[in-house]
Amino acid sequence: MKKETLLATSGSAPEDHGGVVNIPAYRASTILFPNLASFEAAERGEYHRSTYGRYGTPSTEALEDTINKLEGADHSIILSSGMAAIATSLLAFLRSGDHLLMVDAVYGPTRRFCDQALKRSGVETTYYDPLIGAGIASLIKENTKVIYVESPGSLTFEVQDIPAIAKVAHEKGIIVIGDSTWGTPLYMDSFALGIDVVIHSMTKYMGGHSDLMMGVISSKEQHFKPLQQTYRHLGGCPSGDNCYLAQRGLRSMSARLKQHAENAMIVAKWLKARPEVEEVLYPALPGAPGHELWKRDFTGATSLFAFALKTKPSHAALAALIDSLELFGLGYSWGGYESLMTPFSTDTRVATKWRYSGQGLRIHVGLEHPDDLIRDLEQGFKRMGATS
Ligand SMILES: Cc1ncc(COP(=O)(O)O)c(C=O)c1O
Repeated sequence: MKKETLLATSGSAPEDHGGVVNIPAYRASTILFPNLASFEAAERGEYHRSTYGRYGTPSTEALEDTINKLEGADHSIILSSGMAAIATSLLAFLRSGDHLLMVDAVYGPTRRFCDQALKRSGVETTYYDPLIGAGIASLIKENTKVIYVESPGSLTFEVQDIPAIAKVAHEKGIIVIGDSTWGTPLYMDSFALGIDVVIHSMTKYMGGHSDLMMGVISSKEQHFKPLQQTYRHLGGCPSGDNCYLAQRGLRSMSARLKQHAENAMIVAKWLKARPEVEEVLYPALPGAPGHELWKRDFTGATSLFAFALKTKPSHAALAALIDSLELFGLGYSWGGYESLMTPFSTDTRVATKWRYSGQGLRIHVGLEHPDDLIRDLEQGFKRMGATS
C-alpha cells in the first residue's frame, strides 16, 4: 500500500471499540491481567499484551503500528517528546569511554545533551561538518560507537550525504542514529538511506496542530533490545490523550504536507528575489544549497527552512521586522498549521563556520494563504528598512 493509504488505515481496530473508527485515548496506569497464569507469563517476559501504562497501552500500540508500517520498521517506541527519543537513543548505544560523532548542524538541545549529560557520563563527542560525506572515515576512532545524522540540519539546512556516511559507519560496525523529523516518513526512507535508528519529533508535522509533545524511535529487530531497555529505564512514556491527538494528526498528514510544501515554495521563491536576502536555504528550491542531494534522497519537502539576510540589521531593525509580523509568530517548534519566524545564530558550531555573515532567520510556512504571508513579510521588510 502507498503511504497515504497507510496513514488513513493503520492503527485502526473498530471491531475492538464498538465499531468506532478512532482508537480512544487510553488513560492507563493499572492494566489488569486476566489470571495468575498470565501474570506469571508476564514476569517471564512471555505475555504479549500491555502490562502497565508506562510500558504501553492500546493507544501507543496503535501508533507504533502506524509508524512501523510507514517507516518499514520492526519496532517503534512512542515517547513523551522528540527530545526523549533523542536522549533514549543515544543512551541506549553509548557507555562511558565511548566516542560519538555528532553532526555540527544538530538541533541545539541535542548538542547540549552531548556537551553536558553525555560528557558527565564519560562519552566523548566530536562534531563533524554536515557536508563531510565519506570523509567521516578520518574522524572515526577505535571507540566510535555511534554516528548521528540530522538532514537537513537544524537552522542551517545542509543536506547530508547519509548513504556515504552510513557506508563508512557500517563497514566499521558503527550504529547510525538519525533525526528524520524534517523529512517525515513520507518524504524520507531513513532505513534505505542507511540510518539504523530513526528518530522523529511527533510534536511537529505528525501532530500538526501545535497542541502536543511526542517522539518516536524506530528500528529493525537487531537494534531494538537496547532501545526498549533504555526506554524502560527512563520512563519517558506519552499520555493517552497525546496518543489520540497524534493518531488524528497522522490521518491528515499527507494532505497537510502537500499544502505546506506548496506554500513554502511560493514564499521561498519570493524571498529569493528580495534585495535584502542573500540566500534561501530551502533544499527543495532549485539552485539552493543541497538541492541535488535532496532530489536524490527525498521524495518531497516540508515547510521549514531558513534564509540569510545580506546584512546584520541593527537590533532595532530586526525587532521592527519580527514584531511587525502578524501572521508569523515568534515561537519555538514547527510543523503546526501556523507560520513562525525566529532569528538564529550559529555561534555554537565548532567544526565549521556558517558561510553567511548576514542575519539568519528560520521560517516555518503554515497553512495560511501564501499571498497573505508574502504581504506580511513585505511590510515587515519595509519596516526593517525604515529602522536604523
Ligand atoms: C529537528 C528536531 N529534532 C527534535 C526536536 C525535539 O522535539 P520535541 O520538541 O518534540 O522534544 C526538535 C524540536 O524543535 C527539532 O526541531
